[in-house]
Amino acid sequence: MAHLDTVLRDEQPGDEAAIYQLTRRAFAPMAFAAGDEQDLINALREAGALSMSLVAVRDDQIVGHIAFSPASTADKVRGWYALGPVSVDPALQGQGIGGQLIEAGLVRLSTLKAAGCILTGNPIYYRRFGFVVRPDLAPPGEPAKYYMVRPLGNSSPNEVVFFHPLFHQGPAKASDKG
Ligand SMILES: CC(C)(COP(=O)(O)OP(=O)(O)OC[C@H]1O[C@@H](n2cnc3c(N)ncnc32)[C@H](O)[C@@H]1OP(=O)(O)O)[C@@H](O)C(=O)NCCC(=O)NCCS
Repeated sequence: MAHLDTVLRDEQPGDEAAIYQLTRRAFAPMAFAAGDEQDLINALREAGALSMSLVAVRDDQIVGHIAFSPASTADKVRGWYALGPVSVDPALQGQGIGGQLIEAGLVRLSTLKAAGCILTGNPIYYRRFGFVVRPDLAPPGEPAKYYMVRPLGNSSPNEVVFFHPLFHQGPAKASDKG
């Protein structure tokens, strides 16, 4: 159960440095991380591709963050989004903050009439949010067994949904960012 005083809100100007440091701290211990997850968020923001950026605030500190960016099919079908990076302060993990951020993001995407959301991450974690492993739809270069799709519209996708190209410009792949 999350702390009662944890508030979720959209990123505001001035939050950038705190989000950067939080993401760096959260991913640093992760063996799979490439270490550039915080740079990806900045790059998406600078490119106007940070479609949604939510923070979790407790005691005036940013303790959680989630990013969503545009994703698309090869024929440019719009309305797809990619989830990640998502981070929670290491000292506060396992209290439901990450889950709150993911749920809130998916609700927001639904209100935007999004087609759905993709990510590459641990299925054990993300299946609780309605993500389904779709190895058949994984973009080339992504680890198929970790590629997951959460349809939000009426139909499931039947073609590959790609991450924003910025996911592939750093040392890490999208698989490291979910
Ligand atoms: C992943 C992360 C955002 C989850 O946030 P959180 O607030 O700790 O998550 P919640 O409290 O909502 O959920 C905790 C549950 O998720 C599980 N979990 C968390 N991260 C997991 C992961 N990478 N793989 C599998 N399970 C995970 C916990 O074991 C726990 O399981 P339980 O409910 O069965 O006990 C957070 O752990 C984090 O910042 N990790 C480092 C960065 C990272 O790995 N980001 C995601 C990359 S795929």
